[in-house]
Formats: sequence, structure tokens, C-alpha cells
Amino acid sequence: MDSRISARALAAALGGWRGSGSAYESLADGIRLLCLDNRLAPSTALPAERELASALSLSRTTVAAAYRSLRATGHIESLRGSGSVTLPLRRNDPGGHEGDGATIDLQQASPAAWPGLPAVIAEATQDAPALVARIGYDVVGDPRLRAAIARHYVERGMPTSPDQILVTTGAQSAIHLIASVLLSRADRVILETPTYPHAADAFRRVGARLVGVPVDSTTGWDLERAAQSFARALPSLAYLMPDFHNPTGRTMTAGEVSAFVAAAQATGTLLVLDETTAQLDIDRTSGPAWFPDDDRIIRVASLGKTVWGGLRVGWIRAAPDIVRRLASGRPVHDLGTPEIEQAIATRLVPRLDEIARQRGDVLRAGRDALVAALRSELPDWEVPEVFGGVSLWVGLGEPLSTPLVMNARARGLALSAGSRFAVEGGHDRRLRVPFTAPPATLERAVDVLRVAWDDVRDGRTSPVREDFATVI
Ligand SMILES: Cc1ncc(COP(=O)(O)O)c(C=O)c1O
Repeated sequence: MDSRISARALAAALGGWRGSGSAYESLADGIRLLCLDNRLAPSTALPAERELASALSLSRTTVAAAYRSLRATGHIESLRGSGSVTLPLRRNDPGGHEGDGATIDLQQASPAAWPGLPAVIAEATQDAPALVARIGYDVVGDPRLRAAIARHYVERGMPTSPDQILVTTGAQSAIHLIASVLLSRADRVILETPTYPHAADAFRRVGARLVGVPVDSTTGWDLERAAQSFARALPSLAYLMPDFHNPTGRTMTAGEVSAFVAAAQATGTLLVLDETTAQLDIDRTSGPAWFPDDDRIIRVASLGKTVWGGLRVGWIRAAPDIVRRLASGRPVHDLGTPEIEQAIATRLVPRLDEIARQRGDVLRAGRDALVAALRSELPDWEVPEVFGGVSLWVGLGEPLSTPLVMNARARGLALSAGSRFAVEGGHDRRLRVPFTAPPATLERAVDVLRVAWDDVRDGRTSPVREDFATVI
């Protein structure tokens, strides 16, 4: 057996699992969603029925019935004497928006590849001898790519030299590297809630204690809570998405930027700014969030959303001594970024502004179609106004995100429940709906959501459909 989850931890992860149908089926669905989200890994021992019943203030019969239902659907097995253990799920291809024709996958808020990419790949790979000229093991990155990335910052008014850049295999690997090299067990880390879940997982994995600061699509960052959290937690690090925050789409105002900078300075906290989504501007009227250039600020970015997720090229911009520390801690993760991808990226980075403008057009079509469909089909939902990013953080008005996601999944629409983006529980009244898919797909997705919502509100349950989900 690989791991076990305590009744308290499971109750916290379940958050608002209660639908309006039978309690045992809602509980079983809540546990299924944790398995689907990979928040409950295969071979995890679940708490004994009595313990979970007490943590959730339920009768033991209800928990026993939920476990029975999970056994019937193949999510857990119960062995005499060793309790109930989660089973591996059948894994469908998590890529693409439409798997087998019947499925719409909106778990990954990632646009299709930029159309100019195949030509750039063809051009970059033409000169194969040049591609294999370097030794290939390089934990800081190809000097030509580092120079191109440095120039990208200089053009934004931020003097940068290549020794401030470390190339990674995507932003996720950058975040994990930062977490594992710069943090120690039990260090406090501030994150927005909701946040990008794999970043939260990376900080949890190194044993950090996470503290959430709320951010909302319409009201922005909760600065009072931020000030209290910095003062009380004295965090070692704060991980923020200041520009087109994923999932809310919100960009920090100048006042919000100053508040975070002042709080971080007062507590000596490292600020990690994830700018992976920063260039996904559709039609903003105010400028980007502008943090000062400071040795205690680390920036993370990638080509994943602007060009293509499959390229797996990202980077870190930090003070040279931090770059050196990160580089020396890197070999345990990987021994560099693939050379061919770096050669392609070297041609793409100088064109990022042009690429981002084209991305804006694609995202505009998706956002406008999604907003219109949601407002017409689900008028009671709160649909925020966003000017960029990848998704809408929709308000359902009732804490039914988990049962809604399970019901929609049974109807062939895969989404992530609001709770997946929470730092310390909650967000059960929210649903992230990405607008990165084509408009016609988004309209079909909203049709499914409308039917699923009627079911969930009336307490009807749905057949189970399983696959594995990576939230992007
Ligand atoms: C905010 C944020 N950070 C990081 C990542 C991971 O990016 P990459 O694909 O470059 O690893 C994503 C991808 O969804 C993201 O939305």
C-alpha cells in the first residue's frame, strides 16, 4: 500500500460534496471526483467507515453505503482486515478538447497550437547538424535562447542579462524547482485562493504550509487578508499570478501590486510571479500588473499558453545568485531542456508579441461565445467580465460544483470542480470554465451544463464515467 489519508484530511479535501440527492451517492461522487482529479492517488488507504462518519457527522451506514457504491463502480476495493483502498483508473487520452467525438474535455485550459508553429519547427529542424552540435546536458539552457528571453524583458523596460535566465521544461517544472530548492519543510507559502492547482501541489510536496489569500473575479485580491496573512505567517515565499490570474482572469491594479510588494518587503518574503498567462490579453483597457525589478522577485513564464503546451519550454528570471542556486539543485529533477525544443523556442521568443496578438483573437472568439451561451442558458449563474486569460470563474450560487462536475462528466463533458483550485478548501460555489476551445464546442458544453444543472438541483444522480484528469 502506498499511502493513506486520514478522515480529517479526506473531509477537508471533499469540501462541499453534498449534492441535493442521497447523501451516500453524493459522498461516493465526491470521492470519485478526488480520484479523477488525482487528488486521491491510486493505492491510497481510505479511513475506516466509523472514522469518516465521525469526521463528516454522518451515520456509519451512510459511509458504508458510499463505500459499497465505490466498490460497485470499481473505484475502491475493500480487503478484509486492511480496509478500503483506491484503485487505478482507466486512463483516457487527457489531451485535446474532444477525445472520442462524444467527449468534450475542458479540464485543460489550453488553446490549440499557434498556427505558425509547424513552419517554425520545420525551419528550426532543417539544420540537423547544428541542432546536435552542443553536448546537450545543460541545466541553465542554450545561451542563444537565454539571450532571446533576456531581450524579451529588456523590450518590456526591464534590463535583464542572460545570467538572470534559467530555461526549464515548462513553467510547472520551474515552479517545482523553485519549491524544492528554495524552501524547507514547514516553511509558510502564501498563494492566492483559487490558484493554479499544480503549483499548490508542488509546494505541498516539499512540505510547505500553504496559506490562501482570496482573489475574486469581480473584487480582485483581498488586501486585508493578504496583510494579515503576511504579518501572521511570515511566509518564506508567496506565489502569485498577477496578470490574467488562472482561474479568475483578474489582473492586479497598481494598488494591489504595491500592497503585495510592501508586505513582502516587510517580511523578507520571496515573491514568485507566475506570468505564464500574462500575455493572454484579449481587450484590456488598463495596463499589465507592473512589479518592480527586485532581487527578491522571481518570475516564471513559458510558451505553453502563448504557443503550444506540447513545446514544454519555460523559464525563470531571477537574480544571478538565485539562478545559480536553482541550477545546482536541478540535476535531481532533470538534466536540461531538450535541445530541439530550445532551438524552436529561440525562433519563437522574438515573435511573442505578434503571436500573443493572434492568440488574443482566438481567445476573444472563445470568451465571447462562452459568455453569451452561459448568460442565455444559465441566467442565474454569475458570469464575470474578463479581459484576457484562459477561463471564466463562474459563480453557481449554490455549493454544487462537485455534483455538477460529476453529472456533466457522465454526459461527456469533463470539467474541474471549483474545489480543485482551493488552497485550504472551499470554492464549491464556483466552476472554472475555460474558453480555450472552439466556440461551437463551448456552446455544446454549455448545453450539457444546463441539463446537468437541472439534474443536480433536482437531486438526480447520474451514471459514473471514469477517466484520469490533469488540470492545466
Ligand atoms: C498559471 C500557470 N502556471 C503554470 C502552468 C504550467 O505551464 P507549463 O505548461 O509551461 O508547464 C500553467 C498551465 O496551465 C498555468 O496556467
